[in-house]
Amino acid sequence: MTVLVTSEAIQARIRELGAEIERDHPAGEEIHLVGVLKGGFMFMADLIRTMSPRVTLDFIAVSSYQRSTRSSGEVRLLKDLDSGLEGRHVVIVEDIVDTGLTLTYLQDILRARSPKTLRTACLLSKPSRRQVDVKVEYIGFTIEDKFVVGYGLDYAEKYRNLANIAVLEGE
Ligand code: IMP
Ligand code: MG
Repeated sequence: MTVLVTSEAIQARIRELGAEIERDHPAGEEIHLVGVLKGGFMFMADLIRTMSPRVTLDFIAVSSYQRSTRSSGEVRLLKDLDSGLEGRHVVIVEDIVDTGLTLTYLQDILRARSPKTLRTACLLSKPSRRQVDVKVEYIGFTIEDKFVVGYGLDYAEKYRNLANIAVLEGE
């Protein structure tokens, strides 16, 4: 396994993203973060700690990969949010945008719940793999078409606990 993004680089970039998200929302208004389980949990945990107390959070779970490194193109809702989004400033917090199918699905179902604003933050992006054009306001790192693990990202549910993001060879 080769380290692609170190823990230090991740933390530094997340501080910038947190500041950017704060700046883009009107002062004093709540920012509701919607974390995408399971991959987005670590990014969410570190992102909220760079932000002000006006942040609230919830989690949603979807499944798009079936123990494989290639997207099936099919997205299933596994766990819905606990509270409604009407009139709120919502930011989706996701680990990676690959084909874009998962995020397109999420943005569609969340937009239908009438948030005041809806933005998306992804720690990683693989633009060369995109199948649908999806808008992502905050991107941590743009990477090549390599399967990565660590910092929440898994291969067959393993390696989520790594502090760095690494390339998994011989998948
Ligand atoms: P998309 O729908 O193809 O954009 O895929 C998004 C989901 O696929 C992400 O939320 C990840 O869970 C998973 N995924 C995509 N690329 C990788 C990767 O390189 N490593 C681990 N998971 C990935
Ligand atoms: Mg994910």
